[in-house]
Amino acid sequence: MAKLGLFLLIVALSNQTSLACNDNKAEQLPGTRRELNDYWVDSYGFPPPSLTPLYYHEASPPEAAISYQGRSSLNQPNHKANPFKNYFINKNADGKASGRFALGGLRASLINTGLFNNRFTPANTFRPLQGLGNKTPVALNPNFDSLLTTFDGCTAPNGESGICAPGNICSLFGGRPSGSCILGKVCCINVVPSCGGTASLNNTHWQSPAVLSAPSTCTLTVKLDATFVEQKKPICQLRLDFISFTTSQPTAGTCTDTFQISGSTNTAPIICGDNNGQHMYLDVPSSLNGPTNVRLMFNFAAGTGNSPRTWNIKIAMLPCGANYLAPRDCLQYFTSATGIIRSFNWRDIAGVATRQLNNQNYNICFRTEEIDGQIANRICLTPCTITNGGDAFSITSLPGNLANSAVGTTGPNPLPPPVATVAVCLYDFLLIAQGTNPINGLVADRFCGNQLNPIPAGAAVSVTVCTRIRPFKLTYQTDNTEGAVFANNQGIIIPAFGDAGNVGFCLDFQQRIN
Ligand SMILES: *[C@@H]1O[C@H](CO)[C@@H](O)[C@H](O)[C@H]1NC(C)=O
Repeated sequence: MAKLGLFLLIVALSNQTSLACNDNKAEQLPGTRRELNDYWVDSYGFPPPSLTPLYYHEASPPEAAISYQGRSSLNQPNHKANPFKNYFINKNADGKASGRFALGGLRASLINTGLFNNRFTPANTFRPLQGLGNKTPVALNPNFDSLLTTFDGCTAPNGESGICAPGNICSLFGGRPSGSCILGKVCCINVVPSCGGTASLNNTHWQSPAVLSAPSTCTLTVKLDATFVEQKKPICQLRLDFISFTTSQPTAGTCTDTFQISGSTNTAPIICGDNNGQHMYLDVPSSLNGPTNVRLMFNFAAGTGNSPRTWNIKIAMLPCGANYLAPRDCLQYFTSATGIIRSFNWRDIAGVATRQLNNQNYNICFRTEEIDGQIANRICLTPCTITNGGDAFSITSLPGNLANSAVGTTGPNPLPPPVATVAVCLYDFLLIAQGTNPINGLVADRFCGNQLNPIPAGAAVSVTVCTRIRPFKLTYQTDNTEGAVFANNQGIIIPAFGDAGNVGFCLDFQQRIN
């Protein structure tokens, strides 16, 4: 207890120093005390025992105790329990838990690497608890299921995602309260609007800074570590939601502005352009086995300085074993019976620019849904309805056949020799294994061209294509060029013609029974 007292004295003194010029001291100090008290209750399951008039000399009533009493009855029993009971019993027969509460003790590292290392946006300069992690001599109470350290995810009325936290804790660390959670907590939106920052809180929003120059690099490091108090559950996957995402368009399919990811065990393609509403799942080694940094990085090329570059990426940390994790190697995962899938940078926009991105190679997976009480046994894909002059399906086509569908993988050269056989849907394709036109039973698996249709000869119309292979999964693949591919002595033996103006795909999907 002596150590606790000393620590609190330090906090109190440093606050008084920092508040020396502040006329509102009389108002702020009780507020500070309340915040400290709330933090303590939430983190350790009991009010700070030495928060007494001994160190707070002003005459106001002990409102910390009042606010504590006003807390939900749900967590009252925990408060009354001795949180250190487990350490005392069976550990040291004499009742002394020597060293266990000291820094460097059993779980002091939790605190030191946890909440207080300035990982919230430092918007609030009045931070009476800063440095707590370096000073507090106690360990977290492992038996207390803290509502603060759980950091449950929440959704604000305007749709933003955040974490539930007491309002004063939220503002203390620079979050923005928006909506409410149970037990009087607020839905706290954590936003990192800068380059070079880090994120360790669930549902952090990474937003573009107000000013961006080019060329430049802008990164966010997502820190996953089971010893962080705010990551109470081990993390095995991240889900990125591109709430907004705009960079410059690719040149002939190659991104000049790039967004890339390192640190995940599945490979995310490099993307650019218009990606509002897209998402990605990133597999990471369980954070229980050690810390992992996942780095999200934009590289902005010189010479494209007039392009708007804005983004708002929500980063959700998904606990190992959760039933909503995406299956392995699924960059995109859809958990509804109907919806829309789009290749990155697809937009319903008229024009001849190439929007199809090079070097895409990823899987799009679907959870098998129940429909009318039955498990869906096929998924059907139909090109989206276009209203704005765009093109719902356009993946590299065969010359002389530009408007038509095509299926892979090779075909006769439609143009004069020198070669008899050329690639068709061999380098760029959407794979729908056993993709069948239910009307005529025609089947193909690699689809490209300018229509979706399994007919071997190609057609100028798209059809609905269904597959019964479960789990439902598509693979999208493009090579590194929209230019011609030449047969060479390095393994490429089937040439392909160059193409331009492809935009990728937008498909309505629908799971069905029979
Ligand atoms: C993060 O938030 C999401 C969504 O709000 C939630 O499903 C997930 O369990 C949270 N992660 C952790 C580690 O609590």
